[in-house]
Amino acid sequence: MSTPAPAEIGMPLDEVDTPALLLDLDVFERNMDKLAKATAASGIRLRPHAKTHKCPSIARAQIARGAVGVCCQKVGEAEAMVAGGVQDVYVSNEIVGRSKLERLAALAKQATISLAVDNADNVAQIEAAAAKFDARINVYVEIAAGMRRCGVDPGPEAVALARAVKAAPHLHFAGLQAYHGSAQHIRGFDDRRKAIDVAAEAAVTTRDLLRQASIDCPLITGAGTGTFRFEMGSGIWGELQCGSYVFMDADYGRNLDQGGKPGGEFEHSLFVWATVMSRPVRERAVLDVGLKGVATDCGMPLLDGVANVTYERASDDHGVLKVGDTNHPLAVGDKIKLIPGHCDPTVNLYDWYVGIRNNRVEALWPITARGMLR
Ligand SMILES: Cc1ncc(COP(=O)(O)O)c(C=O)c1O
Repeated sequence: MSTPAPAEIGMPLDEVDTPALLLDLDVFERNMDKLAKATAASGIRLRPHAKTHKCPSIARAQIARGAVGVCCQKVGEAEAMVAGGVQDVYVSNEIVGRSKLERLAALAKQATISLAVDNADNVAQIEAAAAKFDARINVYVEIAAGMRRCGVDPGPEAVALARAVKAAPHLHFAGLQAYHGSAQHIRGFDDRRKAIDVAAEAAVTTRDLLRQASIDCPLITGAGTGTFRFEMGSGIWGELQCGSYVFMDADYGRNLDQGGKPGGEFEHSLFVWATVMSRPVRERAVLDVGLKGVATDCGMPLLDGVANVTYERASDDHGVLKVGDTNHPLAVGDKIKLIPGHCDPTVNLYDWYVGIRNNRVEALWPITARGMLR
């Protein structure tokens, strides 16, 4: 079930109802082209993370630019991608429990499916599900690469897991998952590089131990929008999993480049379209976008192109703006664009992207993998 689209194709932007999730198509395409070009030039594979956009239309646009497939985090996201025409999905996450694994094994009869593991019992469960469907599943052993989330310690434990995967008749040992998530938003350029040096050490140590055990490691996969230049230049990773680069949220905009400048190499393409629903006093205005319309886990949204006004606090259905210049003409009924603090959980609140070009609605894309908890 999804809510009706807030717009129609051809409609002027001003008439698009709020709250709505807007995609500036020119910027979005520039972001996609930029990473596609960089990865093609370096000879590395790109498998963008679809947990960011949750939308097969966007996945297909990435694949049309050379991506080998997409990553997902949940089985339901993978199902939505395959239903939307994506033929190669890597669930870059640990999936535990019979019902989810059997859904994944059934999906592996329709498309190329991979997943990550960090536990030997889990390997046995995956093999049992794959055997039941006579399916083949590619498995990456996840190593702890610095973020203190999932992943076995780099070293003998990872080798033992790889051996278990290789011994399972329906599984293929595809390589190592080495993703350093907490490095992505380290603000300083050199500090981000140092964090990826630690992840590289973990990956190389494990790959060398695998070699000593005569186990070939076909691929090391990982990286995100904040650090991909380091993984790409390392000669260690063979595949990048960047997700947020297509949208560039406000939090990513706070990362510093080599010269100490904020912003990075991608541009903001994703906005929440909001209406001023009240201006009760000169120093305050209220938007119709609160917690149900924008994620605030990485800070409040920024206002696009509106000076001296800040988004101060969110409640369920209200966003309270502090108006610094009390003569500001912001009035009830005005519509403005917000740049979300964190793109992935903001997207998860919407059923539709409203694609805009030259101030008109050009595309309406359903976000079919939103809300996929399982
Ligand atoms: C395993 C994994 N790979 C890649 C990404 C993509 O990272 P980003 O959106 O920062 O590019 C994420 C994001 O959380 C992730 O969890």
